[in-house]
Amino acid sequence: MTARTFRLVYTNCRCDLRKRGEVALSGDGPGLVTLCLVCGIVGYVGHRSALDVVLDGLRRLEYRGYDSAGVAVLDGDGGLAVERKAGRLTNLEARLDEVGRDAFTGTAGMGHTRWATHGAPIDRNSHPHCDVTGRVAVVHNGIIENFAALRAELEAVGVEMASDTDTETTAHLIARAYDEGDTKGDLEASVRTVVRRLEGAFTLVVTHADHPDVVVAARRSSPLVVGVGEGETFVASDVSAFIEHTREAVELGQDQVVVIDRDGYRVTDFDGADAQAKPFTVNWDLSAAEKGGHEYFMLKEIEEQPEALANTLRGHFRDGRVVLDEQRLSDQDLRDVDKVFVVACGSAYHSGLVAKYAIEHWTRLPVEVELASEFRYRDPVLDRDTLVVAVSQSGETADTLEAVRHARSQKARVLAVCNTNGAQIPRESDAVLYTHAGPEIGVASTKAFLAQIAANYLVGLALAQARGTKYPDEVAQEFHQLEAMADAVQKVLGTIDQVRALGRELADSKAVLFLGRHVGYPVALEGALKLKELAYMHAEGFAAGELKHGPIALIEEGLPVVVIMPSPKGRAVLHSKLVSNISEIQARGARTIVIAEEGDETVRPFADHLIEIPAVPTLLQPLISTVPLQVLAAEIARSRGYDVDKPRNLAKSVTVE
Ligand code: AGP
Ligand code: GLU
Repeated sequence: MTARTFRLVYTNCRCDLRKRGEVALSGDGPGLVTLCLVCGIVGYVGHRSALDVVLDGLRRLEYRGYDSAGVAVLDGDGGLAVERKAGRLTNLEARLDEVGRDAFTGTAGMGHTRWATHGAPIDRNSHPHCDVTGRVAVVHNGIIENFAALRAELEAVGVEMASDTDTETTAHLIARAYDEGDTKGDLEASVRTVVRRLEGAFTLVVTHADHPDVVVAARRSSPLVVGVGEGETFVASDVSAFIEHTREAVELGQDQVVVIDRDGYRVTDFDGADAQAKPFTVNWDLSAAEKGGHEYFMLKEIEEQPEALANTLRGHFRDGRVVLDEQRLSDQDLRDVDKVFVVACGSAYHSGLVAKYAIEHWTRLPVEVELASEFRYRDPVLDRDTLVVAVSQSGETADTLEAVRHARSQKARVLAVCNTNGAQIPRESDAVLYTHAGPEIGVASTKAFLAQIAANYLVGLALAQARGTKYPDEVAQEFHQLEAMADAVQKVLGTIDQVRALGRELADSKAVLFLGRHVGYPVALEGALKLKELAYMHAEGFAAGELKHGPIALIEEGLPVVVIMPSPKGRAVLHSKLVSNISEIQARGARTIVIAEEGDETVRPFADHLIEIPAVPTLLQPLISTVPLQVLAAEIARSRGYDVDKPRNLAKSVTVE
């Protein structure tokens, strides 16, 4: 066996690998990669066709990664059929049609959709990965950080690797453990022996041809839930993979191994001692995770925003007080707070920028909003009286998770605002406030973003109430105005056809600028982010006051510029300044698209396109002014022929640094 030379030491980013178009391996990796929790995994033992169950599950999980898809099915007679294909799940299905499905009639099996970290997104790197005899198959979510050493160890004893992944090593190691020593013939014990040796983050699901009636899975820092049905049991990255069949689920804890068969499941720790996992009943149904008749999930999710807002606020005002049920911070804790940090990424970060205006106004506490990826690498001034609000839809974002750890290590109190029950970020925080936006499948955040703003505002109101910076009747009034926003969003949704038509008109633009002031500024940033990620179009959001300090040089004939206008009544001074801005850019040839309050006649002469939104209190306007921007981005992307729900190079949960 010749030693293998690895050409690249990868940095850590899949996009980087893609750019180079090369196989990326780290023979002596410097440990730069941290977590990757993206892909989708399904495992099944039951009475139905495992192939059908697994493919259905993968379809629902495909948003977690779409570099490749693969399945393994145990046929009950000692056979293990494996098929995998780079690209979308449809490629795998076409491949199965080509080779025939006769070998896949068994009732136990597993599948995977990949978001590559080690090795290019090509067939041979697709999961499942097998040992040399093809009797053990493994699917994996995450990164095995010590894979290079394991690989070298295997190669030294003559094992030939068939892929460039970190994952493949585990298939060989499990097969070897199964074939020899104390764990001989014991699949569960073999898996435990191997996972004890792994460093990094992983969910592993394992099948062995000798055990046609069981699937074994293990997890560390990567998601895994069990679904318990009648005569059938599932494992999956999230419940949407099996809620069609059962709502009874079990959340596995850290460093646990689960064995499933037709009768149920058994959980142990990595050493084989019995362990407890947390059962729960899934309270949303399958239709909540499907497109609901829409062309794409994002449009469905845009339309679900009134409900997402209402659900997020529901139950948080009782007996004249704002209550944060799920929090474990007392009123005294809130009174002790002397500074607030909001840490988050992408849209979640924008939700924090919006909330800063409200929280500072209501509480008179200084609020800093920072990108989690920046926060974690500097020395923010924190102590036990600092409240760090970590906002994350997925609860799995690596940068935000690390920011949480960074804050807690300095004794700051961390409150997670999260949309995903039981995710890592809330688990590692002192307290959690869940947004109840429901599952968000479109990669672009929409309903989760609005729910994040609402939840951040609840935090602000709870602080103001505990600290007495607002009278109880003022807190009540703010809360009820927030509640009324669900209706205002519904009203805006009634006008989206006009925005979609405008989107089609703008589809050929090269760039779009967004301008806003005060709370309209983060809305401008969010509008630009939506357009970048969905339509792959150059888009920038600016604070309108900065226009003259540089960005105005970008204005040229026909350039679309979206302007978010404050209320002429609520913010009269800012309103008149923005009217001047619009007239300046229109005079330089820009095509002005103005989002303004109904009845705001002053802007009409300067607006090439006017999008009217209802009059609402200033601090709440982002909850409605964002909506047309979401629709605009989606429609431009659709008109350009792009996949609105799965933009290129992006994944729903960005869990790699
Ligand atoms: C938004 O449309 C994005 N896809 C992205 O910016 C996202 O908001 C960000 O990655 C944070 O995700 P999280 O809320 O799950 O932590
Ligand atoms: N690290 C594995 C790979 O690159 C698994 C990636 C995933 O989670 O999809 O193949």
